[in-house]
Amino acid sequence: MNRAESILQVKGLYKHFGSGERRVDVLRGIDLTLEGQESIAVVGASGVGKSTLLHILGTLERPSDGEVTHEGVNVFDFHEQQLAAYRNRTIGFVFQFHHLLSEFTALENCMLPALIGRKNKRESKERAEFILDLVGLSHRLRHRVGELSGGEQQRVAVARALVLNPKVLLADEPTGNLDTNSSRNIHELMLSLNQEKKVSLVVVTHNMELAGMMQRQLQMKDGLLNEIE
Ligand SMILES: Nc1ncnc2c1ncn2[C@@H]1O[C@H](COP(=O)(O)OP(=O)(O)OP(=O)(O)O)[C@@H](O)[C@H]1O
Ligand SMILES: [Mg+2]
Repeated sequence: MNRAESILQVKGLYKHFGSGERRVDVLRGIDLTLEGQESIAVVGASGVGKSTLLHILGTLERPSDGEVTHEGVNVFDFHEQQLAAYRNRTIGFVFQFHHLLSEFTALENCMLPALIGRKNKRESKERAEFILDLVGLSHRLRHRVGELSGGEQQRVAVARALVLNPKVLLADEPTGNLDTNSSRNIHELMLSLNQEKKVSLVVVTHNMELAGMMQRQLQMKDGLLNEIE
């Protein structure tokens, strides 16, 4: 597959935060290519920069230097509004700290990306109900997220990421708060999306079972990514 067809590519990616004595160099020249339907696990110690990398891949944060292309297009050339619309259409993001709206119901949280993407209310609701059922939450549709358990909230976050059938799913510790059984359900759901719906996956995880289910395993260390043999 040539470069223009790679679903996502980064070249010479650098990211630092702060300046002077407080400067932290997090990413130090990362190259990474994600092909269509590929699945990648990113592992590494706490604070090493995994979430930072995922945020940049998902266009939520700008790099300090380097190029990020999605299907050959430099996404950071987009204006903010274009970028937000592109993100909404293309990328599903499961945040490490889920960022759900706790005063809204599970159903409303899942409908939101669809409504923002200008789907009508009925379609948004049907789609959200379908996905919430897939993650085992059909009995909690109308519960406010603040009233759900940590694991249930995480499942809502996974459902919200999937509601618009993204091409790429970026998941940051998607099953960090879940028991073994619930984790397996989510792992299997992600794998079946990858294999049947051809969704490309980048998953940050400490769970070696989940990492082992991905086609490639990469370790982040000292601001760089290396293939784990
Ligand atoms: N907005 C920010 N401002 C300043 N420093 C930041 C910011 N975001 C992240 N950092 C720093 O960058 C480093 C990498 O953070 P990041 O959240 O990417 O780590 P991580 O690998 O995801 O860790 P964990 O496994 O604990 O989630 C940390 O040292 C963190 O303090
Ligand atoms: Mg993190």
